[in-house]
Amino acid sequence: PEPPLLDLHGRTHDYLRISLTERCNLRCQYCMPAEGVRLSARAALLTRDELLRLARVFAALGVRKLRLTGGEPTLRADLPELVRELRALPGVRTVAMTSNGVALARRLPALQRAGLDALNLSLDSLRADRYERLARRPGLARALASLDVALQLGLPRVKVNTVLVRGFNEDEICDFVELTRERDIDVRFIEFMPFAGNEWRDARMVPERAALDAVRRRYPALRPAAPEPCRTASLWQAPGHRGRVGFISSMSKPFCGSCNRLRLTADGNLKVCLFGEAEVSLRDALRAGADDAALAQLVRAALRRKHKQHAGMQNLARLKNRPMILIGG
Ligand code: GTP
Ligand code: 5AD
Ligand code: SF4
Repeated sequence: PEPPLLDLHGRTHDYLRISLTERCNLRCQYCMPAEGVRLSARAALLTRDELLRLARVFAALGVRKLRLTGGEPTLRADLPELVRELRALPGVRTVAMTSNGVALARRLPALQRAGLDALNLSLDSLRADRYERLARRPGLARALASLDVALQLGLPRVKVNTVLVRGFNEDEICDFVELTRERDIDVRFIEFMPFAGNEWRDARMVPERAALDAVRRRYPALRPAAPEPCRTASLWQAPGHRGRVGFISSMSKPFCGSCNRLRLTADGNLKVCLFGEAEVSLRDALRAGADDAALAQLVRAALRRKHKQHAGMQNLARLKNRPMILIGG
């Protein structure tokens, strides 16, 4: 068997995030500029066969968890077939998806039958007017319906992602915590991160410390909950609540030391770090006839260049990185 995907800092990579499309049915301000992004030509995007071939190579190298992202993954008409094929790859134990939920509810039963193991739902405001302002499109009612359906279907892991933006939604923190009272979900507050075109400013970020204080004021008996392995979030639980509250604090408390992630963009580039400028085209190698061993060498070589930690809050804003919508989160 192949040795694990180790980098020079002792981290084993067993988690691949795959962007399935650059398109989205929302236009969230933190994810893309108002004018939108230039989409790749169709021929530049991985075909389904190429995607499956690459995923198989990663699985043979020790990747055990796949997360489907976008853009918005539910815009792919072939999503259930993809989930089924990815889930069946030797070595793959978990296929998860991150979705905004707007076009998800009616597709969920088929996705569950296809083997989808877990769902992270992006939801940044519980007020329709705010939701629409941030997302530049309506969608709150449909996103909430998808959350209901996911819970009715009994999907084993359901999480809600809430990006906190100062002056926009920090007054809703406790409303979000209330979602965990009767629901067995993790609601995770995410620090706003800088990407090309999203007008990130330090002052628009709500650091974990401030968000946690806001939760503690309302729920003084908040207690730590058992963490997940390779977690991005620190988890807490309000007394009597079924679900948990988490904080993903990539900016104020980077979790790079336990990073186990790789990313594949819709146009076939490998990114070894969310905040790395370096990208390697696995698509070009594949189309030039590379065999699995050559692809594996490319992946290992890219990993040897992975940094120990991202460049720090102030420097990140100056990186030549893609807008989030083209990375996949
Ligand atoms: P699971 O741990 O598999 O549930 O997924 P996740 O929380 O990593 O994935 P999700 O797509 O829900 O992302 C939640 C937030 O974490 C988003 O803001 C991501 O951009 C951020 N995130 C995910 N992976 C990384 C990473 O490797 N590095 C950093 N800095 N942030 C990440
Ligand atoms: N900062 C923090 N989180 C972000 N996401 C997208 N853009 C940003 C950003 N600039 C989140 C989405 C989604 C996840 C994949 O990443 O809300 O839940
Ligand atoms: Fe991993 Fe890079 Fe994210 Fe740090 S910033 S956790 S190294 S992907």
